[in-house]
Amino acid sequence: MLTKTDPSNLKLGATELELPEPGKSFFSVRDIHAYYGESYIVQGISLELNEGEILALLGRNGAGKTSTLRAIARVDDPGLKSGEIYLGGESLHDKKSYQAAQLGVQLVPEDRRIIGGLTVEENLTLAQVAEPRGWELSRIYDHFPRLAERRTQIGTTLSGGEQQMLSVARALARDVKLLLLDEPYEGLAPVIVQEIEKIVREIKELGITTIIVEQNAVAALKLADKAVIIDMGEVAYSGSAQDVLDNEELRNEYLAI
Ligand SMILES: Nc1ncnc2c1ncn2[C@@H]1O[C@H](COP(=O)(O)OP(=O)(O)OP(=O)(O)O)[C@@H](O)[C@H]1O
Ligand SMILES: [Mg+2]
Repeated sequence: MLTKTDPSNLKLGATELELPEPGKSFFSVRDIHAYYGESYIVQGISLELNEGEILALLGRNGAGKTSTLRAIARVDDPGLKSGEIYLGGESLHDKKSYQAAQLGVQLVPEDRRIIGGLTVEENLTLAQVAEPRGWELSRIYDHFPRLAERRTQIGTTLSGGEQQMLSVARALARDVKLLLLDEPYEGLAPVIVQEIEKIVREIKELGITTIIVEQNAVAALKLADKAVIIDMGEVAYSGSAQDVLDNEELRNEYLAI
């Protein structure tokens, strides 16, 4: 196995192993370490993405995928102890979550967090209250015809797939530059998964950069340009998504597919 510390290996795999200079990639995570209290969970994760790329962030249960997304979004838990994060030339590691959101980081958590008691449209309008504003409602409804049909329905009464669409739409209402999707396909029928995939592809066409965490690794890999597999809070593999699809050993070892 190649390691980053062996200089001869560095020469061999130079194109794969060399990290670009800080600020060269659109989105860059450099050796981040994050803790829940005393629990050391994110143990030196690095990621590099160009604008408009999709990264599949994969790994076993408890590997630290959600924690990595949360650290990037700068929520309080897990606390980031060291490392650097840059988006479009701006640093995130020294920011609070609301500031990261202002800079375009939008986390769509696994539970989707639709606001109870509010209609679809009210959920979207509320997202637009915060600056900078993203898409207008008409544009959102053009991309999400199901949400247009259900605009007056209470958000929490939508189907799982529709709630997922509403979560993504809310991120678009907030001028998203980096979309973090945590298990967007969970509990959804294959036909609905396809609808969400279509939306993620449309978002990519618009130049939005996306990280997708999924148990359905094959679906995520088919959508993604790059893949990172994490294991016990560390990067076990980093490369192209197609290479993971082609690498049976890697899939068996870390993804059980
Ligand atoms: N709030 C917390 N406090 C303490 N430990 C936590 C907390 N949340 C998660 N952990 C621990 O951090 C580790 C990584 O959890 P995380 O949720 O990031 O994994 P994951 O890869 O998203 O897993 P899954 O596939 O089950 O969603 C696990 O060992 C988990 O028990
Ligand atoms: Mg998780």
